Amino acid sequence: MAPLEGITGYIYRNAHSAYLGKLDKYFTPFLSPHGEKENLTHRERNDVAPEHNMGLNVVPQILTNKSSQFIRVAKYLQDLGYKEVNLNLGCPSGTVVSKNKGSGFLAKPEELQQFLTEIFDGLDMRISIKTRIGMTDTSEFAELLDIFEQFPLEELIIHPRLRQEFYTGNPHREVFHEAVVRSTKKLCYNGDLFLKEHLDTFAKEEPSVEQVMLGRGVLRNPGLLQLAQEGTMPDKALIKEFHDRLYNDYRDAMPGDKPTLFKMKELWFYMGTLFTGWDEGYAKQIRKCNRLSDYEQIVKQIFRDGEYTDKI
Ligand SMILES: Cc1cc2nc3c(=O)[nH]c(=O)nc-3n(C[C@H](O)[C@H](O)[C@H](O)COP(=O)(O)O)c2cc1C
Repeated sequence: MAPLEGITGYIYRNAHSAYLGKLDKYFTPFLSPHGEKENLTHRERNDVAPEHNMGLNVVPQILTNKSSQFIRVAKYLQDLGYKEVNLNLGCPSGTVVSKNKGSGFLAKPEELQQFLTEIFDGLDMRISIKTRIGMTDTSEFAELLDIFEQFPLEELIIHPRLRQEFYTGNPHREVFHEAVVRSTKKLCYNGDLFLKEHLDTFAKEEPSVEQVMLGRGVLRNPGLLQLAQEGTMPDKALIKEFHDRLYNDYRDAMPGDKPTLFKMKELWFYMGTLFTGWDEGYAKQIRKCNRLSDYEQIVKQIFRDGEYTDKI
C-alpha cells in the first residue's frame, strides 16, 4: 500500500485491512522531522504508535535531506520496534522541492550520495527508497540508478514520473524497464495500476518484478486486492462495513463534523465512480453536504440504490 498523505494513515490502514484483506506492506505517509530532536508532530507519532498498527507490516516513511535527522527519527522508530524505514525521494510539492527534499533531492546527486552513505553507516536497520525518475528529464535517471546501486537497499520503489509531471500523463514504463535491466536491487513498481487489467498486463510485461505498490487503485476500488487475487469483487455490504468503520473511527479521533466530512469526501472522490448514479447526482450531493446527518442520509441511499461494480 502506497503512502498517501492525509489518507492512508493508521485509521485507514486498520479499517481497510479489517474488511478487505491485508496488503503485504503498508508505507506510512511521510514523517517530516524538524529541529534537533526526533521532533515529529503529535499526528505523526500517533500514526506510527505500535498500538495503532497491530498485526500490520508497516514501514514508516521519512522525508528529509539531513542525514542526522533521518538517523534520529529512524532510531526512534527502531526503538518502537520498526525494522525498516523508507526514504521519500518522490514528493513533488513546491514547498518540499524548494528545500531540496522529496523529488527535489534528485537534483542534488552528490549530496544524495553523501546522505545515503551517512544513513547506511549510521543505522542498523533495513532502508528502502521510494523515488521518482528525475526532476525535469528522464535522462536524469541513469545517474540516480548508479547511485542507488551502491547501497544495500531493502528495495527500490520506482514511481516512473518526473517531478514536473506531478501525477499527470502516463508513467514512463520504458524508464522503469531500464531499471529492470540494469539494477541488481529488489524493485517495486508504482504508478497508475487501477484495474485488475493493469495488474495483469504489468505482470506479463515485467515478469521478473514481484512487487507492486498500489495507491489510488485501492482508494478507487477498496476491493482491488480481492479482485486481483480471486477475480471477484467484494460484496457491497463489505464495502459498507469498511466505510462505516472508517467513518466511526474518524469521528472518534477528530473533534467536530468538518474534519470527518473532509476525510470522507476525499474517500468518495476516489471511490464514488464505482457506484452507479455517482455522476448523475451523488457526487454533487456528497461534495455539497455540510453536516454529518446529511452525509449519513446520502451514504445510506448510495449503498441502498447504487450498484458497486468495476471492470473485471
Ligand atoms: C493525495 C496523495 C498523497 C500522497 N502522499 C505521499 C506520501 O506521503 N509519500 C509518498 O512517497 N508518496 C505520496 N504520494 C504518491 C503515492 O504514494 C503514489 O506514488 C502515487 O499516487 C502513484 O501511485 P498510484 O498511481 O498507485 O496512486 C501521494 C499521492 C497522492 C495522490
